[in-house]
Amino acid sequence: MEIRAAIINLPGAPERLFCLAVLSAIIRSVSNADPRHIFPGYSKRMRLLDKNGISRPQPLELFSTAAQKRIESLKCYHELPKTECRVVLGDARRLNRLLIEPVHLIVTNPPYISSIRYLETMKLEMSWLGMLSSQSDYLALDRQVVGSERYYKSEYSRLLQTGREQVDRLTSALHAAGHLKMSYTVARFFLDLEESIKGMSAVLCAGGHLVVKISDSRVRGHDVPTSRFFSEIAACFGLFELASFPDKIGGRSLLTRRNCRRYYSHVDLDVHPHPHSSQGKGTTPVHEALISCY
Ligand SMILES: C[S@@+](CC[C@H](N)C(=O)[O-])C[C@H]1O[C@@H](n2cnc3c(N)ncnc32)[C@H](O)[C@@H]1O
Repeated sequence: MEIRAAIINLPGAPERLFCLAVLSAIIRSVSNADPRHIFPGYSKRMRLLDKNGISRPQPLELFSTAAQKRIESLKCYHELPKTECRVVLGDARRLNRLLIEPVHLIVTNPPYISSIRYLETMKLEMSWLGMLSSQSDYLALDRQVVGSERYYKSEYSRLLQTGREQVDRLTSALHAAGHLKMSYTVARFFLDLEESIKGMSAVLCAGGHLVVKISDSRVRGHDVPTSRFFSEIAACFGLFELASFPDKIGGRSLLTRRNCRRYYSHVDLDVHPHPHSSQGKGTTPVHEALISCY
């Protein structure tokens, strides 16, 4: 608490944000949450350690080491040509309202369907960053994330249509098999994905690139070819697939076990003429890049 209070009182915004990011990186190791667990919680193991008086890492020491490590890593940026960076905070589904200037490159890694409870894994860090202040904040935000499964029965009892034939065929099959919530979750996911693809297409310059890391899923015994659906939706917005690089990621490198079968990296080429750009088709050097809208 003392470290956080000192950070909040720092006069400069960049220093304050840097220190908050460092604090969020160490908070798990100095809290009651079991660092061996993905979802934060005071486990039996931690209770036992406390009961036996096993000492925990000292917050100030850990903070100082973590800050120093990051300052060292950031030094290399001074050797790069002068580059301007801006962090824009917002919803990926509202991208075209967040960015005014067109970009040449988007690199992104959208959420997985029904696989990782993103907010639950991060709620401790987000609370310490001041982004969540109550359980109702948490529940409201959790309903908003793409890939959420926190829906009301009144929402998922009806079959949600996306207007995409292949997606609707899959969600109808899930619905017919009695997996109403999963049917809704998948439909909602692709509707949300479509919103963000629309935004990405609107902000990309002609000849720009969209690089997406995406993977297929399996839900309730049904394969969800997310990468193929992504390419099909993207093509409707003028983003055509240039190349894809299948890449199997070993389970050991994952934070949580995923219900995914294949891991893909996709490179898509945008060839549609953009209203902000006078350039024609083909590739362009990257001047403005948006690194991760997810
Ligand atoms: C697969 S992770 C990628 C995280 C990070 N970009 C990376 O590559 O390591 C997807 C991220 O998208 C975030 N997300 C979910 N809904 C979002 C939304 N509407 N707008 C922006 N990000 C969202 C999730 O919280 C999660 O952190």
